[in-house]
Amino acid sequence: MDSLSTAQALRDDAAYIASYQHIAELPLAIKSAHGSYLVDAEGKEYLDFTSGACTMCMGYDRVECGDFGSFPFPYAVGLPQVEYAKALASHYPGGGQVKVAFGVCGSEAIDGAIKLCRAFTKRKKIVTFSGDYHGTTFGAVSLTTLPGRISDKFDPLLPEVHILPFCDEEASDDDIDNCLLELAYLDYESIAGFIIEPVQGDMGMLPMHQKLMQAIYGIARAWGIAFVVDEIQMAFRRTGPFFSIENYEGIVPDAVVIGKTMGGGVPLSAIIGKVNFMDSLGPCEHAFSMAGTAEACARGLTLLNRMDEPGFKNSLEERSSLLYQSLYALQEKHNEVVEKITGIGYAFALWIKSNQSGVDDNEATCRIIRRCADLGLYVMRLGSNWIRIEPQFNITLEDLKKGLAILEQAVSEFKTGKLI
Ligand SMILES: Cc1ncc(COP(=O)(O)O)c(C=O)c1O
Repeated sequence: MDSLSTAQALRDDAAYIASYQHIAELPLAIKSAHGSYLVDAEGKEYLDFTSGACTMCMGYDRVECGDFGSFPFPYAVGLPQVEYAKALASHYPGGGQVKVAFGVCGSEAIDGAIKLCRAFTKRKKIVTFSGDYHGTTFGAVSLTTLPGRISDKFDPLLPEVHILPFCDEEASDDDIDNCLLELAYLDYESIAGFIIEPVQGDMGMLPMHQKLMQAIYGIARAWGIAFVVDEIQMAFRRTGPFFSIENYEGIVPDAVVIGKTMGGGVPLSAIIGKVNFMDSLGPCEHAFSMAGTAEACARGLTLLNRMDEPGFKNSLEERSSLLYQSLYALQEKHNEVVEKITGIGYAFALWIKSNQSGVDDNEATCRIIRRCADLGLYVMRLGSNWIRIEPQFNITLEDLKKGLAILEQAVSEFKTGKLI
């Protein structure tokens, strides 16, 4: 295959790839990737501080997991699939007996969770939260209120979906009281399930307020409502514990939904849930020809085993604490431009404000991101003016420091008016 230049690849992309597949803001054409780096058509390397939007949390190197060919799953019992399911099940919050259903992407698994909630409770209504992102299939997009991800072009969405206000940890007492009041007004007997993103990733890594989470869980348990968490972005210790819901004491969900990084670079998702919940759908009621391929499961299991090795947790904690301290120091030093830092564990967002007349916050964020790319750091804008920082779990400390230094340089250059 002839290697295209960046300019040609961008032209061909515009001509041949449907634009709705991208949210790319930088004119980058990536040819390959290794470790924590993306490599463009001309061979320039970019340290990726997004982990490929959390799809490649253990780095870009090819995962060696044995040579068994690859075979799809639905028509027979597969060994790599069973082994991976057992390993995933062993991490379930609360440690009870659970089953796993593999899928092809996060959005589709959310659709499966909607079906399960309805089948399990024989009720219709799904309750979710303002600002959540659950994906782009019909079910998942119907639960999504992240700004910019919904469109009336494909109305009507799924019926019987109710959106409640979200309160993060920083919410005022009044805001949290309002959230709890709205929760109190619901007709619980009609609700099949709560589907919750415990830490809203694309809204700026915002953990749900403890009081709100506990109130929802209490209602779910009291009224036989399914309690499902979307961990597609935050599972595998991104926020500290294995699942982000474990930041909330005493909660044992009916199911967790995972995806992204779990296939080690090959499409894979899963619903992991309590046995009676998972058994509420019958054969083929949520099954896909290519769900849970052997290769995806073997890659995922190889990575999970690495993440379970002694030393991994400490190494991740070391990186999380370096990231936390450095980002807060950056904010303190450049608070004219970095309004605040939000996040938890190893997932942060920098909220950018402009200190220059004629340049809005949105444009300021774009300029900083572009400058980071010039300097060899890949970061992504979320919403209008926040920058996503979710480095790879196994990035070297040297690279983590290097990326932080580039980020600081870009912010500092913007502050002093050097970025046009
Ligand atoms: C929290 C969350 N839920 C669902 C999804 C959708 O997953 P996918 O893009 O694999 O369909 C994403 C993807 O960004 C996500 O971050």
